[in-house]
Amino acid sequence: LHHGRHGRTAYHFQPAKNWMNDPNGPLYHNGMYHFFYQYNPHDPLFGAGKLSWGHSASGDLVNWAFLGTALDPTSTFDVRGCWSGSTTAMPDGRLAILYTGRDADEVQVQNVAFARNPSDLLLLEWDKPSFNPIIPQPADVTGNNFRDPTTAWLGRDGLWRFAIAAEVDGVGSTVIYRSADFVSWERNALPLHASPGIPCWECPDFFPVAEQGTEGLDTSANGAGVRHVLKLSKAADEDYYVVGRYDDEADTFVPVEDGEQADVRNWRRIDHGHLFAAKSFFDARRKRRVLWAWVDEMDSRSDDVAKGWTGIQSFPRALWLDTDGKQLVQWPVEEIETLRRKQVTLLGAVVGSGGLHEIAGIETLQADVEVVFEIPNLKEAEQLDPKWLQDPQKLCAEKGAAVQGAVGPFGLTVMASGDMREQTTIFFRVFKHDDAYKVLMCTDLTRSSTKEGVQKPIYAGFVDMDVEKDKSVSLRTLIDHSVIESFGGGGRTCITARVYPEHVATGRNHLYVFNNGLDAVKVSKLEAWELATASVNVEDDGLLAL
Ligand code: FRU
Repeated sequence: LHHGRHGRTAYHFQPAKNWMNDPNGPLYHNGMYHFFYQYNPHDPLFGAGKLSWGHSASGDLVNWAFLGTALDPTSTFDVRGCWSGSTTAMPDGRLAILYTGRDADEVQVQNVAFARNPSDLLLLEWDKPSFNPIIPQPADVTGNNFRDPTTAWLGRDGLWRFAIAAEVDGVGSTVIYRSADFVSWERNALPLHASPGIPCWECPDFFPVAEQGTEGLDTSANGAGVRHVLKLSKAADEDYYVVGRYDDEADTFVPVEDGEQADVRNWRRIDHGHLFAAKSFFDARRKRRVLWAWVDEMDSRSDDVAKGWTGIQSFPRALWLDTDGKQLVQWPVEEIETLRRKQVTLLGAVVGSGGLHEIAGIETLQADVEVVFEIPNLKEAEQLDPKWLQDPQKLCAEKGAAVQGAVGPFGLTVMASGDMREQTTIFFRVFKHDDAYKVLMCTDLTRSSTKEGVQKPIYAGFVDMDVEKDKSVSLRTLIDHSVIESFGGGGRTCITARVYPEHVATGRNHLYVFNNGLDAVKVSKLEAWELATASVNVEDDGLLAL
């Protein structure tokens, strides 16, 4: 079953072939989801000058039809590549793409394109007006770093605004432009944010979240009960965000968290694993905000050439503001449940110290696993050396799944071969810290594959939760051949990882719950589903997917 895919995923978004990187301009329009992405139609390698906007559409965010390219590098203002950007749907019915073009001299400039017929269900035709670029590169931009415009929003003054990453005189900044007509744009004197230390940020995302509840908001929403999230990306796999208050008169943004918030590296992480260039959109159909992100390969580029494809997207995640007002909660969109097939359930199973409990009865190469661990006696938790607070990754490396602890490590062992030579662990470990507790979450790839030339790091983050009050911690893990996406503490801490196990070509794949803490751990509930294969950009029956 499912063999011979060479790591190709079954329900994550990827083109049938060739290179893909950033998500661009996800959009819900006329009852259809559209997804655009950085795409090299010619080969499976990044080619800065060859990038087009790939375009796919879906009725359910799960099954996708490939619709060709929406933008190609054919004009003087983008002939060296159509780089990242966003889409905006306007009240007057127009649909626009804002994107970065690399012009004939490889200078990064900003362009606009309009849907030729916004009522066309498939939005196949996009026109690039000849008056592009709408924004040439300003003189104070250094390092040719001026790119990745966000979805635009309307201020109360009736002007459109978008944010863009710009290195302004050597300082990594998020700059705002304003326009009445979407064609002539004026830059604000003050940036929305400036971050000393890192000159080049990429792929900003800026969107409102409701202070209460899980519903998403239209990108132009503001006022009482609304906060804003600024997200910035630092190459090659760090996406940071902070929640704040945005004043759309002054175009100022003030983070709500205390501490040194000028430095983006002190912000929270969208994901502690290998995920980049996240971009969200408002899904008016289900009133939610949905986030996409690029998940690059971790094998070698020659492996990619052999496979003929490179890069996938994270499974779309709904996101909302946690009740603490500071962190986001992320959760796979519910449509994934349409893929659920055979299920196994464990209720109240006790996994003793040193125990390994196999979850048998389903195929686990493409699976959705939800588990709740009851926290054993917290009193015994190990003391946390404060130096670890800054470096959870190192802490996971020193105290891995095999190193016995007090409260934990416990978690899942996934993508395991029969002889356990290949295995990936996702686990928690609870520490005492001052008068409270800290929950560490790790994904350890060091034994994920016996293959040579594959990167196998350890990923880690703390889960910001009240473990004393909750007395349990949850983990959801999506397994899909070469990707493992984990959501800890109900989606507060996420870790996405790529894996290239060799045993799956010939042998069975195994899934376990393990516990290497001092006390037994009770699995109050575990549900695991085999997932069906979605129709994702299948070359021949593309439109049938709709
Ligand atoms: C991020 C990025 C963007 C750029 C695009 C080019 O991965 O470098 O800043 O627009 O990729 O493909």
